Parts: sequence; C-alpha cells; structure tokens
Amino acid sequence: MEGVGGNREVPPRSGLGEKADPSVPEEGGPWGKHGFPDGSEPEAKRREIALSAPWLGEREEELVLAVLRSGRLSLGPALDRFELALAARVASPHAAAVSSGTAGLHLAVRLAGLGPGDEVITTPFSFVASANCILYEGATPVFADVDPQTLNLDPNAVEAALTERTKGIVAVDIFGYPAELEELARIAEEHGLALIEDACQALGAEYRGRPLGSFGHPTIFAFYPNKQMTTGEGGAVAVAAEEDWELLKSLSNQGRTDSGEWLTHGHLGFNYRLDDISAAVGLAQLEKLDAILELRGEVAARYGELIESLDGVEAPLPDDEDHRRSWFVYVVRLADELDRNAVMVRLGEQGIASKPYLPSIHLQPYWRERFGTGEGMYPVSESASRHSLALPFHTRLTAGEQERVVDALARAVA
Ligand SMILES: Cc1ncc(COP(=O)(O)O)c(C=O)c1O
Repeated sequence: MEGVGGNREVPPRSGLGEKADPSVPEEGGPWGKHGFPDGSEPEAKRREIALSAPWLGEREEELVLAVLRSGRLSLGPALDRFELALAARVASPHAAAVSSGTAGLHLAVRLAGLGPGDEVITTPFSFVASANCILYEGATPVFADVDPQTLNLDPNAVEAALTERTKGIVAVDIFGYPAELEELARIAEEHGLALIEDACQALGAEYRGRPLGSFGHPTIFAFYPNKQMTTGEGGAVAVAAEEDWELLKSLSNQGRTDSGEWLTHGHLGFNYRLDDISAAVGLAQLEKLDAILELRGEVAARYGELIESLDGVEAPLPDDEDHRRSWFVYVVRLADELDRNAVMVRLGEQGIASKPYLPSIHLQPYWRERFGTGEGMYPVSESASRHSLALPFHTRLTAGEQERVVDALARAVA
C-alpha cells in the first residue's frame, strides 16, 4: 500500500490549495506512477488517489526494531504496554488486544454467553463481521433498521424486533458516528440483554462527552490499515471487569489458564493473539492518535467546504452535543436520481478510488442464500447502501488531491 513504512514523520499538508509536501514520498517516486513529472501529466493519467493510507513513520520503525532485537515476538512486554495504553486512551479499566476486530467481536459474543436459540439484534448497515460474529456462536441475528440520519441502529426498530428469545444487541458506530448508546443500554437493561458495541470504525469518538469504550459494556476496536490507527492486522476489546479481561486473554490464547502451564487449557480457546511486532506499531500509533484524529478532522472539514456547493451530493451528518464522530471514512450520499455506480466508474477513469460503502448485510449472497433475506426488508439501510459513496480519505490526503476528487465528482454528477 502507498507509503507503508516509507513516509517520514512529516505531518500531512493542510489548507486549501496547498501543494503536496515533497518530503513525503509518493507512490511510484517523484514522477508518480505513470512516469510524468507531477502536474505535467495528462489528467486521466495523474497519480491515483487511494481510498485510504496509514500514516507510519520513524517511531513505528523504532518500536518495531526494539521488539525484533528483544526476541520477544509474542506475549511480550510490547503487548502489555499496548493494552494499558489503549485502555487509558479509551478510559476503560481493561483492554484485551486480539488479532483482528472480527476476533474481538467473536470473543465478545462468546463472553456474553450468546448461543443456539438466542436472538441477537443488530444493524444491517455495517461491515459483515458485526453480524457474522453472532453466527459464529450459533445464535440467530435479527436485523433492525437504521435511523436515516445517523445510519446507526434505530432504538425504536430495536424495540420492535424484541421477542422472548432476544438475548443481546450488537450495536455498531457506523462511519465513526456513535450509536444511541443510552437508549440501547436502557433497552438492554430493561430486557436483561447483553449489549456489545462494535466500535471498529470509531476509535476516538465520543458519546455525551465520554470516549467510546468507557461505558462498561464490551467495546471492540479494529486496527486494519484503513482505520484511524493501525497495527497491520489487529483489534481489541475494552471491558470493565477484570475477570472478563482475564477470560478474554485466555480465550484469545488457546484457552490457557493463568497457572503459567503452557499446555494446560481450561477453556475452548482460539489463537486470536496480537503479536508484539503489531503491538509495537500500535503503541507508536497511539502516541500520535490525537494528531491523526485532528488531521482527519481537517481533511473532513475541507471536503465539507468543497462539497457544499455541489448539487446532488450530501455531506456526512455533522456532530451534535451528544455525538462526536471519529473520522474513519468520508461517505457522501448521492441524490436518488443519480446512478451511484456510474459515478464510481467516472471517478475511476480519473484515477480516483471510491467504494459503495456499505452494502446491506442482509443482501449479501451468503445471507440471502442461508436466510432467504432480500430487498425491501430494511428500506432505510437499503437506500443508504444504494446511494452512499466513500471518497478517498486519510490523514495524508493533500488539499490539491481533495480538489481533484471534488472536481471529478462535480463532473461525474453533472
Ligand atoms: C464495523 C466493523 N466491524 C468489524 C470489522 C472487522 O475488523 P477486522 O477487519 O479487523 O476483522 C470492521 C472492519 O472494517 C468494521 O468496519
């Protein structure tokens, strides 16, 4: 991927119309991928603008090198330090690092004891892992439609989906925008349900002035390289109770007990460990997470200004008193009469990556086949899926690149 390990600790550029910083190497060297000096190439052949890119630098290299030199590549001190630093960052008593967000979701469902015969209410407008984790444990996912503004679970729809068999809710903070945690927690409490929060897209977001991860229910984060911060692959579960953390540590480590006996397995466990090389990357990323979030906020604000005057293109929902988004992706909604897929093709012709974020889970081939789900079941989610479009978005996106994206978008929707 573009710039992995190559770019130095140079903060990305900001401000409308600024030039790219020449000290940040670009894909394909100084002349771009197609061999033209920057700026002189035919427009369609200019360097492609990627959808996402991590921001890695010398600190990551330094901490990874220290792990390599220590020889402690797994279950070493970098992992412990990463868990402590992450827990502190999200104001949670404990955090258990795991090998992916999906692994974290799976363990949270297991920790809640959800299984065959139990219904778990979740959102259809999400990345598929937030619903798959329910299937892994043999429980039954039940979708409830989302709110048209926030695109997160609509608490009224959740209440309407409750049955005697409902045992849990998996809420997702989609596109980094916090779900309606208070209402969902109230429903969970009233009906004795487990509440699990998939904050894989939302590290750093705040609900009612408190960071996601600090509300007491298990909250899962993910660190794939398109996320706000990365460990390569990786994830974590924030939990309040020490015994939950201990169980998560055991389950992610083949069910080993903490007796110190390597070959004693007290639970049916998994190998969901995060290795220390990844943890070292995560530590360096956590050190600059505030800077990352601020820069992403600036990139989002600049898109907002550029897009304001475009007919047929709606910017993402702004923050309000209760919800402070952590910018994960920049997803616009195109007017109903526009053909989103044709717009994507036109952007692609200009070297601009885009994605149809996100397809509704109940319309995925596996889900249709297994559960007989289809169009019309969750109309708000389906409508969002049809009309939403993720634009290139990352910490190092230049103002010039953003202008190129929005110019191309303006032509594509005209
Ligand atoms: C909402 C959501 N849940 C879960 C995941 C899974 O995370 P991972 O790719 O680390 O397994 C993702 C990844 O993008 C996600 O966006």
